[in-house]
Amino acid sequence: MTGLPWDASYHDGPAPWDIGRPQPAIVRVASERGFAGAVLDAGCGTGENALHVASLGLSVLGVDVAETALTIAREKARDRGIDVEFAVADAFQLDRLGRRFQTVLDCGLFHTFDRDERTRYVASLASVTGHNGTVYVLCFSDEGPDTGPHPISQEDLRAAFNPSNGWHVASIEPDRVQTRYHADGAPAWFVTIKRI
Ligand SMILES: C[S@@+](CC[C@H](N)C(=O)[O-])C[C@H]1O[C@@H](n2cnc3c(N)ncnc32)[C@H](O)[C@@H]1O
Repeated sequence: MTGLPWDASYHDGPAPWDIGRPQPAIVRVASERGFAGAVLDAGCGTGENALHVASLGLSVLGVDVAETALTIAREKARDRGIDVEFAVADAFQLDRLGRRFQTVLDCGLFHTFDRDERTRYVASLASVTGHNGTVYVLCFSDEGPDTGPHPISQEDLRAAFNPSNGWHVASIEPDRVQTRYHADGAPAWFVTIKRI
C-alpha cells in the first residue's frame, strides 16, 4: 500500500480523510500541551495536523509516501507562514531519517496496515522514538455504529504495542475521527503509547 496508490488518492480533489482542518482530537491534545520536543507526524497527508502543532511553536517533521500530498502540505505552510518540514519517507523505514522524536503522531495510518505490517511499522516507530517518548494513534475503532473502513480493536492495539517490544499502552480512549463522508465523524480510539 505504498507509493503510487496512495499518491493517486490526492490527484482529484480532497481524499475522504482530508478534511481541510486538523482533527479535533489532535487540537484538544495540543491544547493540553500533549506535544513536546521534536514531533514526527507519520503519514501526514496534506499536513493539517502537523501544521497545527507547528503553529504552536514546536519543531515538526511530517512524512508521507505521497509526494502530491506533501506538495500540497508545503503550499499550505508557505501560505500560512508556518515553519514546518515535510519529507518523503516510508513509515516502515523511519530509521533512515536518522533522527529521534519525543512525540510521534499517527493520524489514520496505523489502521491502514494489516497485522504483519503493524509489526514492522511498530519496530520502525521504535527506531525513531526517544526513551520515554510518546506515540499518539488516532484510528478507526471497532465499537459503535457506522464504524470506519478499517476498524481496529483494543486487542489489536495492545498486540502491536506491548512491553516485549518496548512499549506501554498508557490509555485507549473512545473518540471520533472526522471524515468527509461522516456527518459527525466515525468511532475512533485515541491511543497514548509510551516508549519504555
Ligand atoms: C488515511 S491517510 C491520513 C493522512 C493524514 N494523517 C490525515 O489525517 O489527513 C493515510 C496517509 O498515510 C500515508 N501512507 C500510507 N502508507 C505509508 C507509508 N508506508 N509510509 C508513509 N506514509 C504512508 C498515505 O499516503 C496517506 O497520506
